[in-house]
Amino acid sequence: MNSSILGFFTLISSESHLIWNKMSLPEGYEFRKLQASDFTNNYTETLKVLTTVGDISQEQFTDLFNYWSSLPEIFHPHVITDANGVVVATGMLLVERKLIHSCGFVGHIEDISVDKHQQGKKLGHFMITSLVELSKKLNCYKVILDCDQSNVGFYEKCGLKPAGVEMTKRFI
Ligand code: ACO
Repeated sequence: MNSSILGFFTLISSESHLIWNKMSLPEGYEFRKLQASDFTNNYTETLKVLTTVGDISQEQFTDLFNYWSSLPEIFHPHVITDANGVVVATGMLLVERKLIHSCGFVGHIEDISVDKHQQGKKLGHFMITSLVELSKKLNCYKVILDCDQSNVGFYEKCGLKPAGVEMTKRFI
């Protein structure tokens, strides 16, 4: 099957609330919501490409997964899986309900990570454009993220532009 058509069907079958993502994934790859079974399916290993994950137990993961699932309007954790169904990319959209902008919604993109062996295949781009489309579909008036200077070029290629300055005070 033509891979761009496959990308379309993959999206509408797994994410019926998402509109068309003009990009396509490699054949057999799928963009979908995080599942409880992904704990043993390379999810935490993929996140380790991004940062320290810690020694997370199955119980802790299940607890967190259930918490996210109990607030489905806020937490939208997603993954991309390869042709074998293994998680190779991660991404989270958080939807914040605000008072300003007429009780508007702001989308926050977090924890974008692509397996080292899968980088350069446009998976990161697909993840970002899909989460941006999802935030638009969920009526966010904007979507924002923090990143290192070294990733600015990547996000610009995904259609975002620099705005403001990140400030932080770390506790650990
Ligand atoms: N700087 C500039 N351009 C980049 C970079 C970069 N760091 N990384 C990729 N690109 C370009 C690619 O060359 C490609 O350009 P092209 O369309 O002209 O060919 C385009 O961006 C799309 O690249 P992808 O193939 O989609 O990138 P990939 O799947 O490798 O994902 C990512 C990029 C997410 C940065 C990946 O390298 C990664 O996981 N890095 C480690 C973790 C990380 O830094 N995550 C982001 C944290 S910020 C956050 O979570 C909000």
